[in-house]
Amino acid sequence: MIPKEIEKAFNEQIKKELDSAYLYLSMAAYFEHENLEGMAHWMKKQAQEEVGHAMKFFEHINERGGRVELHALDEPKKDWASPLEAFKHTYDHEQKVTASINNLVELAKKLNDNASLVFLNWFVNEQIEEEANAQKILSLLERIEDNFAGIIMLDTELAKRE
Ligand code: FEO
Repeated sequence: MIPKEIEKAFNEQIKKELDSAYLYLSMAAYFEHENLEGMAHWMKKQAQEEVGHAMKFFEHINERGGRVELHALDEPKKDWASPLEAFKHTYDHEQKVTASINNLVELAKKLNDNASLVFLNWFVNEQIEEEANAQKILSLLERIEDNFAGIIMLDTELAKRE
């Protein structure tokens, strides 16, 4: 049986993952509007990944006899000043998600909940990748600045995300 405190925290994490999906979908809409289709594609894929993360928590709570409770999502920001600002937001957001996962690990340790610790291990590794991906694109955009040809080249590259 899943501890009540963990059940509550995991339900909150489902909301955070779906908030992330919603945020990245909003960024996809922004990039579509800016005719940066590669960046829009990258954000749509990212949004799908976030739904996948939420579903991992959803299934874990159910497998351990808990009760999934969904919360209302936050309305995401709609506009960014530039691709640089959007990817900076992405990187900042992923750092917040990492902090949230780390808090869950601390809670699982405190409660000696080994099943949750093993489960959360996947997320600890995933967050390394999530931060690295966003940081790599951000650092390229910092060097590109507002060079239009550079933005188009990066857009073409991001269209290749599987
Ligand atoms: Fe679900 Fe981007 O972390």
